[in-house]
Amino acid sequence: MFNSWRTSVIVIVVLSVIAGILIAVFAHKNRGKILVFFSVKPSISVVDMRVEWHRLDQKYLLVHLFDDHEDRNTEQIQSYRGRTKLNHQELQRGNASLKLSSVRVSDEGLYKCFIQSKSWNDDTTVNVKVEAVGRPPVITVDGFDHSGGLHLQCESEGWYPEPDLEWLDSAGVSLSSETTEKHRNTEGFNVKHTITLHHSDKIHCRVKLRHHMLEALIITTSNMFISWRTPIILISVFIVLSMIAGILIAVFVHKNKGNILLLYAFYVCGHWSS
Ligand SMILES: *[C@@H]1O[C@H](CO)[C@@H](O)[C@H](O)[C@H]1NC(C)=O
Repeated sequence: MFNSWRTSVIVIVVLSVIAGILIAVFAHKNRGKILVFFSVKPSISVVDMRVEWHRLDQKYLLVHLFDDHEDRNTEQIQSYRGRTKLNHQELQRGNASLKLSSVRVSDEGLYKCFIQSKSWNDDTTVNVKVEAVGRPPVITVDGFDHSGGLHLQCESEGWYPEPDLEWLDSAGVSLSSETTEKHRNTEGFNVKHTITLHHSDKIHCRVKLRHHMLEALIITTSNMFISWRTPIILISVFIVLSMIAGILIAVFVHKNKGNILLLYAFYVCGHWSS
């Protein structure tokens, strides 16, 4: 009895520790820069012209304006503030490529560049695709089911476009997720998958997007699968003992009802008479 008590306490402590550990194999966050290309042909200087970059899919809002030999960005969309750059030297070679820094998921879309002088104009439309590698996945131990299976949950945030999440056992065999969830916010996609494990193993949770891959690992030991019974046995024993005690008390009270009353009457009488 004492041994099982100790085991169950240790199991609970071990589980809480595991639940708190975040296991990351490697992390990579894409905070990159992109170039939205546009060079006029033939490569004449556009430095004396008006160069406008707009979001074609967002009400033609202004992303960058170069006019009268200067960047004029007072009308620029708020979300592009301080993140756009036109290389003025390159403008002399007909290169009006726009450099975008601290790229966000919301930068994906259609851009239109319009270059104009009094006598000449040219334009182009560029479809910009953004890819974001999210944060390393985190595996959480989320308790047991009624048959003693261990619930595992793997979560990863900040991917774009939607990544693939896969569970693998130590032999590299793919395990199918029980539940899958995905949420989209301004930062990209968050994914969460669960599985239930019935025996100890080394489990990988892999999140993949094209050639990017992030992984987390959890090692479960056989102790986790045997010792789940201990608390249940303890509770059952407690319930059975309480029931037996209850029955014994009831029987005792029932059997001695007369005696107890008599004893009481005797005591009252004795008290009275003294
Ligand atoms: C255009 O200018 C950018 C810098 O703004 C440069 O990185 C790019 O290579 C240039 N493109 C061409 C075709 O020269």
